[in-house]
Amino acid sequence: MVVRKIRREKRTMRFLQPCRLLILGIWLLVLMVLGFTIQLMGTHCQKSPPQILIALRPLPSPSEQTCRPKSHIVFLKTHKTAGSTVLNMLHRYGDRNSLTFALPQKYQFYYPNLFKHQYVKGYYMKPTYDILCHHMRFNLPEVRKLMPADSFYFTILRDPATLAESSFSYYRSVSSAFKKAPNFTEFIAHPSHYYKPGEKGNQHARNFQWFDLGLNPDTPFNESVAKAGVGGIERTFHLVLLSEYFDESMVLLKEELCWDLDDVVTFKLNTREASTPLEKREVERLRAWNALDWYLYVHFNRTFWEKVERFGRERMDTEVRRLRERRQELAEICLEGSNPVRADQIREEGIRPYQFGKLKILGWVVKRDLEPDTRARCVQMVTPELRYKDILDEKQFPGADIAGSDLSQQGSQ
Ligand SMILES: *[C@@H]1O[C@H](CO)[C@@H](O)[C@H](O)[C@H]1NC(C)=O
Ligand SMILES: *[C@@H]1O[C@H](CO)[C@@H](O)[C@H](O)[C@H]1NC(C)=O
Ligand SMILES: *[C@@H]1O[C@H](CO)[C@@H](O)[C@H](O)[C@H]1NC(C)=O
Repeated sequence: MVVRKIRREKRTMRFLQPCRLLILGIWLLVLMVLGFTIQLMGTHCQKSPPQILIALRPLPSPSEQTCRPKSHIVFLKTHKTAGSTVLNMLHRYGDRNSLTFALPQKYQFYYPNLFKHQYVKGYYMKPTYDILCHHMRFNLPEVRKLMPADSFYFTILRDPATLAESSFSYYRSVSSAFKKAPNFTEFIAHPSHYYKPGEKGNQHARNFQWFDLGLNPDTPFNESVAKAGVGGIERTFHLVLLSEYFDESMVLLKEELCWDLDDVVTFKLNTREASTPLEKREVERLRAWNALDWYLYVHFNRTFWEKVERFGRERMDTEVRRLRERRQELAEICLEGSNPVRADQIREEGIRPYQFGKLKILGWVVKRDLEPDTRARCVQMVTPELRYKDILDEKQFPGADIAGSDLSQQGSQ
């Protein structure tokens, strides 16, 4: 019995072996066909990546599912601090969610004057707004007249040394102190020789951030003055971001606002062509010259990292990685090339960056052959702030005579 059983099994196996080979062959064939199809689809998708944008939308993280997205926002856009990139994010979010913006008549709220609620376009028609984010010299009591009590206040700071260099290049022609100096090296060597308080455009030349925050940049530095300034800012702003740690800043902001990852993904806007790095001694001089701003920066750099600590270092690393991967994905979907280009290489008028002074402000080229919805989203991500402000203006005041092409007076800064 046993012998026969074994023999039978042997026979079955002999029968099975060629059969197995056949199955294996069929499988191989199926796999090859599959592989080929995927490749074909791959090349097809490159031509029209419409669904990718939506399909790639990452799953919300747990915190996003349990909190409620904030939509009452005050952003103090300081100058030369990557504020334009933050502004793009706010413009997009407000645009998509039909939020109302407190808009300036033109492009800024009569800067460098202190903000007044009457500077907001159509303020008499509307008691409150959702978002206030365009250039102003901050003035809390006036801001409060327009913004809901539960508004989230945030701003962004930068090391005053690199900020000063950027400011010098950008505002060379408008600041009296910068105009008088033959070059930046000279200005750094003897700033007080060129700088007179109150002369035209000099808010750009000393304690620029202190000024934008509504404080007096010419107060002689002492610890108690600096502390009082910092205290006021801490009581007003829920979050102070740092340009040097932009991605970490976006993660903290996303968490506080309870927004999705895609809401805080941006491409760098309003950048200029590379400049030469500062020497160590120049950095020290600039920080000393801008002592109030430096005090501010050191303080908020410390509290920033305390926040990161509370958020969790590892969690921060993971979130920053997610953000960068997503930025990379969207860049591959949306953009021609991986670097911003000069304005003259951007044919599309609506996304060409505004040029100011002698600097070359760079922008992005959006791929042409995209499915309309995808392309619209891509274009939004690279629309310069002045243009986007016009779009929002047209949406809120349809048919009204908007500032339009009169960009010469109040530029993007
Ligand atoms: C800056 O100007 C000073 C005074 O005119 C001149 O001596 C110096 O060579 C200039 N430096 C640079 C880097 O151009
Ligand atoms: C600091 O400066 C302010 C304003 O200039 C002045 O009123 C105050 O007395 C100074 N405090 C100290 C401790 O020097
Ligand atoms: C900001 O804080 C970080 C972390 O403590 C530190 O590494 C960095 O040197 C600080 N930056 C400045 C400009 O002080």
